[in-house]
Amino acid sequence: MKISLEGQTALVTGAARGIGLAIARAFLEAGASVLALDRDAAALEAIASAADGRVQAMPLDVADYGPLSEALADRRIDHLVCAAAVGSGKTGFPFWRMEPADWDRVLGVTLMGVVNTVHASVPALLAGETERKSVLLVSSVAGQIGSPTDPPYSAAKAALISFAQVAAKDLAPHGIRVNALSPGMVRTDLNRSVHAASAEAGSTDYEEWAREKIRRVAPLARWQEPEEFGAMSVYLASDHARNITGQTLNIDGGQVMHA
Ligand SMILES: NC(=O)c1ccc[n+]([C@@H]2O[C@H](COP(=O)([O-])OP(=O)(O)OC[C@H]3O[C@@H](n4cnc5c(N)ncnc54)[C@H](O)[C@@H]3O)[C@@H](O)[C@H]2O)c1
Repeated sequence: MKISLEGQTALVTGAARGIGLAIARAFLEAGASVLALDRDAAALEAIASAADGRVQAMPLDVADYGPLSEALADRRIDHLVCAAAVGSGKTGFPFWRMEPADWDRVLGVTLMGVVNTVHASVPALLAGETERKSVLLVSSVAGQIGSPTDPPYSAAKAALISFAQVAAKDLAPHGIRVNALSPGMVRTDLNRSVHAASAEAGSTDYEEWAREKIRRVAPLARWQEPEEFGAMSVYLASDHARNITGQTLNIDGGQVMHA
């Protein structure tokens, strides 16, 4: 199945590395132009200068609504993918090992950063022909299983699933579809930071810790690769997915199974 998104534009947040970068690359491969948004300006510039003019770097912090909405006004956006997120850098369990103040930055970026980006993108999404447009919020298995690892992160990811469903209903009359994507275990800086904050960090290395975790939680017992999220994002943006909205798509080796 060859998917072409030629002539369309995707805004991808968290596009400087990891899953967001793989998603941005998949949109480029499908022929789309990409607005690559991240707070890491240097990494974005490197990506944009290595591309063929179809990547525009947008060095912004998703937690900061004013500059974000200003930068997105009058843009063309056919597809929006919100992948930017942070964890607390601490482990919970029990959750009172953390302070309420530890929640602020995590919710500010991982939940409100997505809310800000969706709000700032709505005028562009509603402009012109809307039938082929889509929104994808990157959630996590952590938002579905009561993961105790990083409580504010889990809560933010659960809220994104609900927000995707609400937005799916609000935007359906315009033909715009909204879904959530839920990764399991992917080798990225964010995933490494979970190991670094864990009690096992001193006694196991990252690969060993992850291998054991994956074996324990995922029936398929293997890593997910960033490119798998790129392929699913392009599929969900395409006409092949024209009847898919309000869903959470788990790419997690079977960790979460819906009824
Ligand atoms: N890696 C995993 O195993 C895993 C599992 C479940 C969910 N996820 C989700 O996948 C998405 C991508 O994560 P990743 O693992 O690729 O992480 P990553 O840390 O490799 O990349 C995240 C990107 O987001 C950017 N970012 C962070 N805060 C920002 C802000 N305030 N404004 C703009 N950009 C900001 C960072 O600069 C970075 O480039 C996230 O939503 C994450 O929660 C990842």
